[in-house]
Amino acid sequence: MMEKLKIAIQKSGRLHEGSVNLLKECGIGLANGMNKLRTEAGNFPLEAYFFRDDDIPQYVEDAVADIGIIGENVVYESNKQITVVEALGFANCRLCVAVKKGEEYKGPASLNGRKIATSYPVLLKKFLDDNKIKAEIHEISGSVEIAPGIGLADAICDLVSSGSTLFMNGLKEAETILQSRTVLVKNNKLSKEKEALLAKLLFRIQAVKKAKNNKYILLNAPNEKLDDIIKLLPGMKSPTVLPLAQAGWSSVHSVLNENDFWEIIEKLKANGAQGILVVPIEKMII
Ligand code: PRP
Ligand code: ZN
Repeated sequence: MMEKLKIAIQKSGRLHEGSVNLLKECGIGLANGMNKLRTEAGNFPLEAYFFRDDDIPQYVEDAVADIGIIGENVVYESNKQITVVEALGFANCRLCVAVKKGEEYKGPASLNGRKIATSYPVLLKKFLDDNKIKAEIHEISGSVEIAPGIGLADAICDLVSSGSTLFMNGLKEAETILQSRTVLVKNNKLSKEKEALLAKLLFRIQAVKKAKNNKYILLNAPNEKLDDIIKLLPGMKSPTVLPLAQAGWSSVHSVLNENDFWEIIEKLKANGAQGILVVPIEKMII
């Protein structure tokens, strides 16, 4: 029987939708798994398991799942024998200390003698020790954000992504302890067959990531400016240049990195480019 790659995905929360969407963009559709523990992909030898994200490192270490999608913070907190394979580029977040909105916060010393609720005691303790702060760590496994409101703690240490959870609970960010990317992790002892499946999946993930970081650009250029414009648009190999029906003009097609985007657009315009179209790319294989 053909081996299947078992992937652990967050059951619900920050990472769930992005994880399912990433697989979908890789051509791997999962039946809606919100209320299921396990679901099979129709068109790739893969089965998905839905777990609490904080439990995923343990499951990957124990080979209940071969790979998993989690925040780096969970990797550091859990200290399991697993390997980070790839940063995925969605739902990145930060681990923060937050206090009540009305409270004055004057740096880490304000936390001395306070009670801080968190699901990340290891990372919080390191932060407190590094800053020589003596505070009480109150470990709870979920709904940390309600702790100050019900008098269970003075502050919290939790993940912040959009900030809406803090806002809705009358809290404000006080310190960032750690920037956390969303990553793909793997078990350290995968079989050859599973490593090959993972390589296949990674190839697709990288194509999707590259496509997201790049845009397809089309523009019209006066022929006398073509050389300057081509220098601005290196493309995958080099840009495509096609003559326009109107004499003296060409159409230039290329690929542009998202990060350089606005700066290059300005230079293109300054060099006489017109009718600039920028369109998303779905997959990109170099
Ligand atoms: C984290 C955190 C907050 C939320 C913050 O939960 O505990 O609840 O994300 O995101 P926001 O700033 O966009 O509102 P997570 O997804 O890890 O789920 P869990 O608490 O069940 O582990
Ligand atoms: Zn979590």
